[in-house]
Amino acid sequence: MTRPMNIVILTGSGISAESGIPTFRTSGATTFWDYIDSGGVRRSHPVEEVCTPEAFARDPALVQHFYDQRRAALAAAEPNAAHHALARLDSAWAGELLIVTQNVDDLHERAGATRLLHMHGALRSAWCLACDGRSAWDGPLEQGPSCPACGAAGALRPDIVWFGEIPYGMERIDRALERADLFVSIGTSGAVYPAAGFVRTARYHGAATLELNLEPSGGSIFFDETRLGPAGQLVPEWVDALLG
Ligand code: APR
Repeated sequence: MTRPMNIVILTGSGISAESGIPTFRTSGATTFWDYIDSGGVRRSHPVEEVCTPEAFARDPALVQHFYDQRRAALAAAEPNAAHHALARLDSAWAGELLIVTQNVDDLHERAGATRLLHMHGALRSAWCLACDGRSAWDGPLEQGPSCPACGAAGALRPDIVWFGEIPYGMERIDRALERADLFVSIGTSGAVYPAAGFVRTARYHGAATLELNLEPSGGSIFFDETRLGPAGQLVPEWVDALLG
């Protein structure tokens, strides 16, 4: 009997677009994120102004406010057909499987996925710079609440991997890529490393590679096959075919 394939799936913000969560980059644009400022005005910020440790040191209130809004917006978002299809695959697949997400939303786990790794952190987690502990967190951080673990006030930051910081779980991801028979990339522009390099690592170790995206990504040439369309359609189709 042949063993079932080992699968690594990489997801990016495109998989959550149909749940109403904006992506980072649109075709032709660079890296600007919208957020609503404290006066209720929609503003755009270059990611360097909100997604770096330097930005947090310079203006913690701006950065906390930005992530507080994104955390609050999550409550209104629901997993879509693509998240549900991956959760179905996760529970049914007998081989090794790892869903590596660059997303900080919790839509994969709310759909039921368990073999999941948040390589860029999670909005619903707070990291205490005093005790180094992580706590589940649903509310705002801007007012400097106390750490539930150590009680320190004002020491919690978003548990998000910012530019210049080391992504979580790289050893586990590397091991999974080395063992993968199939690598699938869904809804990511392939603009940010190390995730953008996973396809080449997987290929190097002999995996077949498939991209499911709305438009060709920066790394499309490295995939054996690219299917273009919305994740809410392409992912269930792919999972249904795989599960027969
Ligand atoms: N279905 C499939 N793909 C989609 C959809 C959709 N409905 N909508 C958009 N896309 C695609 C876009 O065409 C684009 O290629 O999703 C991709 C989103 O790319 P980015 O906005 O660059 O997001 P992502 O790749 O997740 O960004 C990576 O960059 O700023 C950092 O840490 C941040 O995790 C993030 C990382």
